[in-house]
Amino acid sequence: MQEHKFTLNYQRFDSFEELPKTLQELHLAALSATELAYAPYSNFHVGAAFLLDKAGILLGSNQENPAYPSGLCAERTAAFHIGTHHKNDVIQVIAVIAKPANEERVIPVTPCGACRQVLLDFETRQKRSIKMLIKLADGSFALIPSINSLLPFAFSDTSLSL
Ligand code: THU
Repeated sequence: MQEHKFTLNYQRFDSFEELPKTLQELHLAALSATELAYAPYSNFHVGAAFLLDKAGILLGSNQENPAYPSGLCAERTAAFHIGTHHKNDVIQVIAVIAKPANEERVIPVTPCGACRQVLLDFETRQKRSIKMLIKLADGSFALIPSINSLLPFAFSDTSLSL
């Protein structure tokens, strides 16, 4: 038996001001996308902003349903739109953030497991890493280098052909 470990290397920016302009713009776009959420059941408004090579910034927001599991996260709402309308484009970076309904404060979020699974397949298909920009609880930002690094031991298309 040997011990193994996964390590996650990411870039940390101390503040919004320290982010490069493109990432500042992407974070603000994600913040604006929280206004597009339909989340009357959780009151948790999530916004996602995807930066693409050709299409520029595209937005997604969570879309809920009275049959709760039928709703969809902001990340997958955007991803499936892109899979439909921009399937030959390349996703460079995704920013995500949340806000409670009727409040000004923001809540840091990282993508749920199902979104990581979906985004991993987009990353695999485009053969280029997708970075993820996350605001952390202390106000700093993490730029994660790939979706793959967020999902160790992932189930993937290769598993289907074993
Ligand atoms: N949600 C997202 O849209 N993205 C995430 O990364 C985490 C959770 C949504 C799903 C649901 O509408 C609400 O947030 C509460 O879980």
